[in-house]
Amino acid sequence: MKPIVLVAVAALAASGTLALAHKGASGVMKERMDMMSVLGNNTKALAMMARGRTALDWQIVEQAGQAAVHTGQTFPEKFPADSFKAPSEAKRNIVSELENFTLLAVGLAEAGQALQNAADMQDEGAFLVAFQGYAQTCKACHSLYRE
Ligand code: HEC
Repeated sequence: MKPIVLVAVAALAASGTLALAHKGASGVMKERMDMMSVLGNNTKALAMMARGRTALDWQIVEQAGQAAVHTGQTFPEKFPADSFKAPSEAKRNIVSELENFTLLAVGLAEAGQALQNAADMQDEGAFLVAFQGYAQTCKACHSLYRE
Protein backbone atom coordinates (compact mmCIF):
# COMPACT_ATOMS: atom_id res chain seq x y z
CA MET A 1 0.00 0.00 0.00
CA LYS A 2 2.78 2.42 0.84
CA PRO A 3 3.96 3.10 -2.74
CA ILE A 4 0.41 3.94 -3.81
CA VAL A 5 0.16 6.49 -1.01
CA LEU A 6 3.50 7.98 -2.05
CA VAL A 7 2.33 8.38 -5.63
CA ALA A 8 -0.89 9.95 -4.39
CA VAL A 9 0.93 12.42 -2.18
CA ALA A 10 3.37 13.32 -4.94
CA ALA A 11 0.48 13.86 -7.32
CA LEU A 12 -1.34 16.09 -4.85
CA ALA A 13 1.80 18.13 -4.27
CA ALA A 14 2.38 18.49 -8.01
CA SER A 15 -1.15 19.61 -8.74
CA GLY A 16 -2.08 22.77 -6.89
CA THR A 17 -5.32 22.90 -8.85
CA LEU A 18 -6.59 19.60 -7.55
CA ALA A 19 -8.41 20.98 -4.52
CA LEU A 20 -9.99 23.64 -6.70
CA ALA A 21 -11.10 21.22 -9.41
CA HIS A 22 -12.78 19.03 -6.82
CA LYS A 23 -14.44 21.83 -4.91
CA GLY A 24 -17.85 20.72 -3.77
CA ALA A 25 -17.02 17.05 -4.17
CA SER A 26 -17.10 14.95 -1.03
CA GLY A 27 -17.38 11.36 0.10
CA VAL A 28 -17.29 8.67 -2.53
CA MET A 29 -17.39 11.24 -5.37
CA LYS A 30 -14.25 12.95 -4.13
CA GLU A 31 -12.56 9.56 -3.58
CA ARG A 32 -13.11 8.50 -7.18
CA MET A 33 -12.08 11.91 -8.58
CA ASP A 34 -8.89 11.85 -6.50
CA MET A 35 -8.10 8.35 -7.77
CA MET A 36 -8.50 9.58 -11.34
CA SER A 37 -6.35 12.66 -10.72
CA VAL A 38 -3.56 10.40 -9.50
CA LEU A 39 -3.88 8.32 -12.68
CA GLY A 40 -3.79 11.51 -14.74
CA ASN A 41 -0.55 12.65 -13.13
CA ASN A 42 0.99 9.18 -13.34
CA THR A 43 0.09 8.98 -17.03
CA LYS A 44 1.81 12.29 -17.76
CA ALA A 45 4.98 11.03 -16.06
CA LEU A 46 4.84 7.72 -17.97
CA ALA A 47 4.22 9.48 -21.29
CA MET A 48 7.34 11.61 -20.78
CA MET A 49 9.35 8.43 -20.25
CA ALA A 50 7.74 6.64 -23.21
CA ARG A 51 8.70 9.57 -25.46
CA GLY A 52 12.24 9.59 -24.11
CA ARG A 53 11.89 13.08 -22.67
CA THR A 54 12.71 11.87 -19.17
CA ALA A 55 14.80 8.90 -18.07
CA LEU A 56 12.98 5.63 -17.43
CA ASP A 57 12.44 5.26 -13.69
CA TRP A 58 11.29 1.73 -12.88
CA GLN A 59 10.10 2.73 -9.44
CA ILE A 60 7.67 5.24 -10.93
CA VAL A 61 6.50 2.64 -13.48
CA GLU A 62 5.98 0.15 -10.65
CA GLN A 63 4.01 2.63 -8.53
CA ALA A 64 1.89 3.77 -11.46
CA GLY A 65 1.13 0.11 -12.19
CA GLN A 66 0.09 -0.46 -8.59
CA ALA A 67 -2.17 2.60 -8.62
CA ALA A 68 -3.85 1.35 -11.83
CA VAL A 69 -4.39 -2.13 -10.34
CA HIS A 70 -5.85 -0.70 -7.14
CA THR A 71 -8.07 1.77 -9.00
CA GLY A 72 -9.26 -0.86 -11.46
CA GLN A 73 -10.24 -3.16 -8.61
CA THR A 74 -12.09 -0.60 -6.46
CA PHE A 75 -13.35 2.12 -8.82
CA PRO A 76 -16.70 0.52 -9.82
CA GLU A 77 -17.82 0.47 -6.15
CA LYS A 78 -17.69 4.24 -6.05
CA PHE A 79 -20.76 5.10 -8.12
CA PRO A 80 -23.90 4.89 -5.95
CA ALA A 81 -27.04 6.07 -7.76
CA ASP A 82 -27.24 9.32 -5.77
CA SER A 83 -23.67 10.39 -6.63
CA PHE A 84 -24.29 11.82 -10.11
CA LYS A 85 -24.29 15.58 -9.69
CA ALA A 86 -21.91 18.53 -10.06
CA PRO A 87 -18.96 18.70 -9.97
CA SER A 88 -18.84 15.05 -11.07
CA GLU A 89 -18.33 14.32 -14.76
CA ALA A 90 -19.53 10.74 -14.44
CA LYS A 91 -22.40 9.69 -16.72
CA ARG A 92 -25.47 8.12 -15.16
CA ASN A 93 -25.41 5.12 -17.49
CA ILE A 94 -22.61 3.73 -15.29
CA VAL A 95 -25.41 2.50 -12.97
CA SER A 96 -27.40 0.72 -15.66
CA GLU A 97 -24.26 -0.57 -17.43
CA LEU A 98 -22.23 -1.44 -14.35
CA GLU A 99 -21.20 -4.80 -15.81
CA ASN A 100 -19.58 -3.20 -18.85
CA PHE A 101 -18.10 -0.42 -16.72
CA THR A 102 -16.57 -3.05 -14.43
CA LEU A 103 -15.06 -4.87 -17.43
CA LEU A 104 -13.35 -1.63 -18.49
CA ALA A 105 -12.06 -1.18 -14.93
CA VAL A 106 -10.70 -4.74 -14.99
CA GLY A 107 -8.90 -3.79 -18.21
CA LEU A 108 -7.25 -0.91 -16.33
CA ALA A 109 -6.16 -3.28 -13.56
CA GLU A 110 -4.70 -5.69 -16.13
CA ALA A 111 -2.84 -2.86 -17.84
CA GLY A 112 -1.46 -1.85 -14.45
CA GLN A 113 -0.27 -5.42 -13.94
CA ALA A 114 1.49 -5.30 -17.32
CA LEU A 115 3.28 -2.08 -16.26
CA GLN A 116 4.38 -3.77 -13.05
CA ASN A 117 5.64 -6.80 -14.97
CA ALA A 118 7.68 -4.54 -17.28
CA ALA A 119 9.14 -2.79 -14.22
CA ASP A 120 9.96 -6.13 -12.58
CA MET A 121 11.81 -7.25 -15.72
CA GLN A 122 13.21 -3.74 -16.34
CA ASP A 123 12.28 -4.34 -19.97
CA GLU A 124 11.90 -1.13 -21.98
CA GLY A 125 10.14 -2.80 -24.92
CA ALA A 126 7.61 -4.39 -22.56
CA PHE A 127 7.10 -0.98 -20.92
CA LEU A 128 6.31 0.70 -24.26
CA VAL A 129 3.77 -2.00 -25.15
CA ALA A 130 2.24 -1.91 -21.66
CA PHE A 131 2.02 1.88 -21.70
CA GLN A 132 0.12 1.87 -25.01
CA GLY A 133 -2.39 -0.63 -23.66
CA TYR A 134 -2.70 1.32 -20.42
CA ALA A 135 -3.40 4.64 -22.18
CA GLN A 136 -5.97 2.87 -24.35
CA THR A 137 -8.01 1.82 -21.29
CA CYS A 138 -8.49 5.47 -20.25
CA LYS A 139 -9.96 6.46 -23.61
CA ALA A 140 -12.14 3.37 -23.87
CA CYS A 141 -13.88 4.16 -20.59
CA HIS A 142 -14.00 7.96 -20.83
CA SER A 143 -15.59 7.83 -24.28
CA LEU A 144 -18.58 6.00 -22.79
CA TYR A 145 -18.82 7.07 -19.17
CA ARG A 146 -17.35 10.53 -18.70
CA GLU A 147 -18.91 13.84 -19.78
C1 HEC B 1 -13.61 2.20 -15.93
C2 HEC B 1 -13.69 3.54 -16.40
C3 HEC B 1 -12.48 4.45 -16.39
C4 HEC B 1 -11.17 4.16 -16.68
C5 HEC B 1 -10.57 2.82 -17.08
C6 HEC B 1 -10.43 5.39 -16.53
N1 HEC B 1 -11.26 6.40 -16.15
FE1 HEC B 1 -10.71 8.33 -15.75
N2 HEC B 1 -12.66 8.79 -15.30
C7 HEC B 1 -13.72 7.92 -15.35
C8 HEC B 1 -14.92 8.58 -14.89
C9 HEC B 1 -16.32 7.96 -14.79
C10 HEC B 1 -14.55 9.89 -14.54
C11 HEC B 1 -15.45 11.00 -13.97
C12 HEC B 1 -15.50 10.82 -12.44
C13 HEC B 1 -16.35 11.86 -11.75
O1 HEC B 1 -16.22 13.07 -12.09
O2 HEC B 1 -17.15 11.51 -10.87
C14 HEC B 1 -13.11 10.00 -14.82
C15 HEC B 1 -12.35 11.14 -14.61
C16 HEC B 1 -11.00 11.26 -14.88
C17 HEC B 1 -10.22 12.46 -14.67
C18 HEC B 1 -10.73 13.79 -14.11
C19 HEC B 1 -10.58 13.72 -12.59
C20 HEC B 1 -11.03 15.01 -11.93
O3 HEC B 1 -10.18 15.87 -11.69
O4 HEC B 1 -12.21 15.15 -11.65
C21 HEC B 1 -8.93 12.18 -15.06
C22 HEC B 1 -7.73 13.11 -15.02
C23 HEC B 1 -8.92 10.80 -15.49
N3 HEC B 1 -10.19 10.28 -15.37
C24 HEC B 1 -7.79 10.13 -15.96
C25 HEC B 1 -7.75 8.78 -16.31
C26 HEC B 1 -6.59 8.09 -16.82
C27 HEC B 1 -5.24 8.76 -17.06
C28 HEC B 1 -6.96 6.80 -17.03
C29 HEC B 1 -6.14 5.66 -17.58
C30 HEC B 1 -4.84 5.42 -17.04
C31 HEC B 1 -8.35 6.68 -16.66
N4 HEC B 1 -8.80 7.89 -16.24
C32 HEC B 1 -9.07 5.49 -16.75
C33 HEC B 1 -13.68 6.60 -15.77
C34 HEC B 1 -12.53 5.89 -16.08
